[in-house]
Amino acid sequence: MRWGLRASWAPHLAAGGLTLLVGLLVVTGLGCLSVTQSRCSLSSLVHGRLDLDVPYAGTRPAVVDRMLEAARVGPSDHVIDLGTGDGRILIAAARDRGARGLGVDIDPVLIGEAQENARRAGVADRVRFRVENLFETPLSDATVVTLFLLPEVNLRLRPRLLSQLRPGSRIVSHAFDMGEWRPDETHRVGGARVHLWTVPAQVDGVWRFTDEAGRVGELRISQRFQAFTGALRNGDEDLPIARGRLTGDRIDFAVATEAGSRRYAGRVSGGRIVPTDPAQSWHAERGREESGDETPQT
Ligand SMILES: C[S@@+](CC[C@H](N)C(=O)[O-])C[C@H]1O[C@@H](n2cnc3c(N)ncnc32)[C@H](O)[C@@H]1O
Repeated sequence: MRWGLRASWAPHLAAGGLTLLVGLLVVTGLGCLSVTQSRCSLSSLVHGRLDLDVPYAGTRPAVVDRMLEAARVGPSDHVIDLGTGDGRILIAAARDRGARGLGVDIDPVLIGEAQENARRAGVADRVRFRVENLFETPLSDATVVTLFLLPEVNLRLRPRLLSQLRPGSRIVSHAFDMGEWRPDETHRVGGARVHLWTVPAQVDGVWRFTDEAGRVGELRISQRFQAFTGALRNGDEDLPIARGRLTGDRIDFAVATEAGSRRYAGRVSGGRIVPTDPAQSWHAERGREESGDETPQT
């Protein structure tokens, strides 16, 4: 993997190329400089017209490890690495954890390096790299998405992540969060932060709810990312929901009754919510007027 300036640049620098380099940086609007481990491909420097939304900076190996650990990446995962750089995150996912995946970057020189690095690491049969704008990459195949971008880029990506990824897919980001969509976990590695999200099922709306005794009522859910509020109407009772939480397709909430708090833990699947405990019989179906209304919060 390549760190720092290329050795082949040394003669140019010695021959007064330093002036030229500084000139190029100024001409390219310093677009390639970043706060940590700053580096750009020669192509980005010379052409300067690459539509970079984020300058290049490599994630340190210890942070890469923590990202993959936090996202519990394993052999059954398909990882999409957006803004892959020299491919180090995806290559580690394949080499150390047996995953497969795709890395995209807008810089063709970095993509060439990533392909070469994958070949050297012996994982070229499990990972693909291609030159692509990360805002155009289809995401529905991913079980894990890895990011080291910028806060505003994460925010622009958020609607695509929420609408294209399946419930239970994980997103792991080095350094930057996603605004109001709070991470489910944040880890610290040295001075760096790693944030993890699990894509929640979409449950916003009205559900027909059947309780343990077979009485039919209504479950109204107002979802905000992985959290929700609402109420459960059963007969004359209209009980507010407390601690409504989604982790992928798992749903968990409580309602306060006169007899105390009653907790419901279930799974969301195909327009139904069913209890995780097979001994329980309560369940919910999407109301007819709600069917197909699975537009995610963005
Ligand atoms: C901060 S670096 C991260 C590199 C790598 N993921 C890592 O963590 O080591 C961001 C990368 O995003 C790429 N990039 C910037 N804008 C992009 C865009 N619109 N589409 C695809 N890649 C982009 C840059 O070329 C750079 O390689």
